[in-house]
Amino acid sequence: MSNQLLKGKRGIIFGALNESSLAWDAAKEVKKEGGSFVLSNTALAIRFGKVNQLSEECNSKVIAADVTSIDDLSNLLNQAMEILGGKLDFILHSVGMSRNVVKKREYYDLDYNDFIEALDISALSLHKLLQSAMKLDALNEYASVVTLSYIGAQRVFFTYSDMSQAKAMLESIVRSFGYHYGSQKKVRINSVSQSPTRTTAGKGIRGFDSFYHFADKMSPLGNASSNDCAKFIITLFSDYTRMVTMQTIYHDGGFSSTGISKEVLSNYRPGCTCFVHDQGEE
Ligand code: NAI
Repeated sequence: MSNQLLKGKRGIIFGALNESSLAWDAAKEVKKEGGSFVLSNTALAIRFGKVNQLSEECNSKVIAADVTSIDDLSNLLNQAMEILGGKLDFILHSVGMSRNVVKKREYYDLDYNDFIEALDISALSLHKLLQSAMKLDALNEYASVVTLSYIGAQRVFFTYSDMSQAKAMLESIVRSFGYHYGSQKKVRINSVSQSPTRTTAGKGIRGFDSFYHFADKMSPLGNASSNDCAKFIITLFSDYTRMVTMQTIYHDGGFSSTGISKEVLSNYRPGCTCFVHDQGEE
């Protein structure tokens, strides 16, 4: 069912790689709610992923941009305004990558070039995007920018590695830029801290299956799915949340407020090294 909550709104959606991407479901939901948008990803992801298939389904153009490049971002913002016929009302920044995570390096043995790259792609890129948008005056009043975060910004998930710092920085940029963009142009900026979700990036984290199941059993509502996340993003893009900004909002079925759940406790066997779920992962 559609309520046309985004009718007449224009935007950019970053980060749809394939059907499992959080941005994929978000794009389909935005389309259903009447929004029009341009899709963006790296040239490589466009070539090897399925963005073009999504663009056909959503009747939207695809523009390549590396989020670490200010030239690419400025070009994308200009082209999006031209294609969509005016300033933008929403942006979804659904981007993250850490080679240290991909290479499964221990936190005390990280490659620093990869660490800096992870911060650049996963966090600083939001600042670059917002600064470019501000300089080009690309966003309408009360436009809504949403990025995706994870509770690893606040707590240690021992294989989340340098992405913990990237997410902490990302959430801090949400607050700082949210203040400046809000007071100058009434643009709002929020991050959604999402449950573990089986996406390409998610599954690249060592032990992902175990902490997916652990989170599911810790959360009174269970893990939030990608489709749930998409629906929540719609509310943040809509006019119903006009006064919400600079927040990290937990979209996690209650995980972040739970200390220990009955489900987890009843699966714990003292003296046993396996806990809740064990698929023989490291
Ligand atoms: P995904 O792998 O489908 O999406 C990540 C996207 O980032 C890909 O489309 C990739 O091409 C893009 N990307 C990487 N480097 C880029 C660059 N230099 N320029 C432009 N785009 C680039 O995985 P997912 O899970 O949908 O990730 C989206 C966001 O959600 C990320 O920020 C991730 O950290 C966050 N998130 C994911 C969770 C999960 O469990 N999957 C949980 C909480 C947050």
